[in-house]
Amino acid sequence: MRNVTKDNITDAFLGYIGKDTDPRLREVLAALARHLHAFVKEVDLTHAEWEKGIEMLEWAGEISDKERHEMVLLSDLLGVSSLVDMVNTVPGGTSSSVLGPFHISGAPPIPLGFDMKRHYPGKVLLAQGVVRDIEGVPIQDATIDIWQTAPNGLYSSQDPEQDTYSFHGIQTVGADGRYAFTTIKPVSYEVPTDGPGGALLYATKRHAWRPSHLHFIVKAEGYRTLVSEIFAADDPYLDQDAVFGVREDLVMHYQDMPAGTFPNQGFDLSGKVEGSWLKVDFDLTLVREDD
Ligand code: BEZ
Ligand code: FE
Repeated sequence: MRNVTKDNITDAFLGYIGKDTDPRLREVLAALARHLHAFVKEVDLTHAEWEKGIEMLEWAGEISDKERHEMVLLSDLLGVSSLVDMVNTVPGGTSSSVLGPFHISGAPPIPLGFDMKRHYPGKVLLAQGVVRDIEGVPIQDATIDIWQTAPNGLYSSQDPEQDTYSFHGIQTVGADGRYAFTTIKPVSYEVPTDGPGGALLYATKRHAWRPSHLHFIVKAEGYRTLVSEIFAADDPYLDQDAVFGVREDLVMHYQDMPAGTFPNQGFDLSGKVEGSWLKVDFDLTLVREDD
């Protein structure tokens, strides 16, 4: 097109897409261009603002590496990651929620009843539940990849004081679908603020806090993989998660358990917990791949 104007530039872009382009790629790119062009026109974007946006993206690229994924953080802070979760959620299963940038692959297998708390201070938290399908039938051999922060609010990849896989582990459930482990109560923490994600929060007077949570990825053959997290009902940031990850069905309640009631078998800590402890029961529901 020779006489490109602000009224025909979107059609010009669509016209440039080659005939043999993958149809889904065409659909996604065409919609992206329509929305981006409409956005520029709606806000009368200035050159300075456009440059600022490009600078933010370049900064995100510079600050990212194998362990730091600033583009993911920007997507999280803008609510895009959560929206992608929501449009891909199939009713009936446990809601999915943001993966976040701190999952590490290769976590060690942990047996049923494993203790992730180890020498860390604080009350023992026993977390357990059943992995089921939407009819309520336990799913044998499902795996649960679990990760959380240490009591200082840092993931192992952020904290030189921790071993690589501290507070990380993968448990495989048996015929009853049951998972169970002990850990400590997760804490609220701030997402990293030393990059463009932080600049975005600062400029818009937002805080960086996430309510306390336990992350997990549940996999089972024939089922959709579930990436999610569970949150504590009493957390002060539950209604203002910086990355929009909270869903009603992901809110759990800690039960305060009196001293002397910790199960005397089935856990690494059986026979070793003297004081009061915390318990959370949380079942996880997977939907079939073809649902
Ligand atoms: C997290 O929960 O690990 C997380 C999620 C999104 C952004 C930063 C951290
Ligand atoms: Fe997290």
